[in-house]
Amino acid sequence: MAKILAVANQKGGVGKTATTHALAAGLAARGERVLAVDLDPQGNLSYSLGLSAGPGAMALLQKSAAASEVIQSSALGLDAIGSSPDLSSADIAIAETGKEYRLKEALAPLARKYSWILIDTPPALGVLSVNALTAASKVLIVAQPDIYSLHGIERLADTVATVRRYCNPKLRIAGIALTRFNRRLILAQQASQAIDAQARELGTRLLSARIRECSAVKEAQAMKRDIFSYAPRSNAAKDYQALLDELFPPKRG
Ligand SMILES: Nc1ncnc2c1ncn2[C@@H]1O[C@H](COP(=O)(O)OP(=O)(O)OP(=O)(O)O)[C@@H](O)[C@H]1O
Ligand SMILES: [Mg+2]
Repeated sequence: MAKILAVANQKGGVGKTATTHALAAGLAARGERVLAVDLDPQGNLSYSLGLSAGPGAMALLQKSAAASEVIQSSALGLDAIGSSPDLSSADIAIAETGKEYRLKEALAPLARKYSWILIDTPPALGVLSVNALTAASKVLIVAQPDIYSLHGIERLADTVATVRRYCNPKLRIAGIALTRFNRRLILAQQASQAIDAQARELGTRLLSARIRECSAVKEAQAMKRDIFSYAPRSNAAKDYQALLDELFPPKRG
C-alpha cells in the first residue's frame, strides 16, 4: 500500500518543492514506484519535473478526471500529477461538504500501484493543504533556520492538529527539515536550537540532516533535472541523500 507524504509550510520559498523533487527522485532511484503530486498553483514542481500542461490535480479535486487519466511519466520510476493555474481558485471552486477528502478519494485507487506518493503543497493554509494533509499518512515540515520560522511552524502544527481531529486521525509529523542552511551563520545555529526545542514541544523532531544553501539546487530546477542526476557531488545532493536515508531508512539485505 502506498504511503503518502505531504511536504508543507505555508511560508513561501523555504524549499518545499526542491525537497519534494529530491525525495521523489531519490526514492525512485532506489527502485521504489513513486508518484509526485503538484498541488501548488505556481506549478514549480511540474516545471522542474518537465510535465506538460493539461488536466492535473485540479481535475482530481473537481472529480472531472480519475487519477489514472492525469498521471504523466516524468522519469524512470517517477510518475507525476501536474498543477495548473486554476488550482488557485480551489478555495472557491471546491466548497461542498467533504471537500477535504477529494484528493484522498482520488488517490485511493493508486494505493497498490505506488510505494510512495509525495505531495508538494502551496505556501498557504487553505483547501489545497488541507486536502494534502487529509490524504497523507505523514507530513514533512520544511523550514529555513531563522527565528521567524517558529511562529509559522506553530500555525502549521495547529492546522495539523485540526486535520487530525476532523479528517485524518492517523496523520503524523515526520519531522522538521531545515533547508538553505548556512553553518557559518551564528543565527542559523541559534534558530536551529529554537526550532529543535519547538519540535519536541510539538511531539516531533528536528531531523539531523541539514540541506545546505547550494546553487546547484536552483540550477537543477532550471534545467528540469533532479539534484542527484544534475550534481551528484554537490553539497545539496549529499544533504538530500542524508535526509532521504533519515526519513526512509534503506531496507537491509
Ligand atoms: N538548498 C538550497 N540552496 C539554494 N537555493 C535553494 C535551496 N533550496 C531551494 N532553493 C531555491 O530557493 C527557491 C525556493 O525554493 P522552493 O521553490 O523549493 O521553495 P518552496 O517552499 O517550494 O517555495 P513556494 O512556497 O513558493 O512553493 C528556489 O529558487 C530554489 O531553487
Ligand atoms: Mg513550492
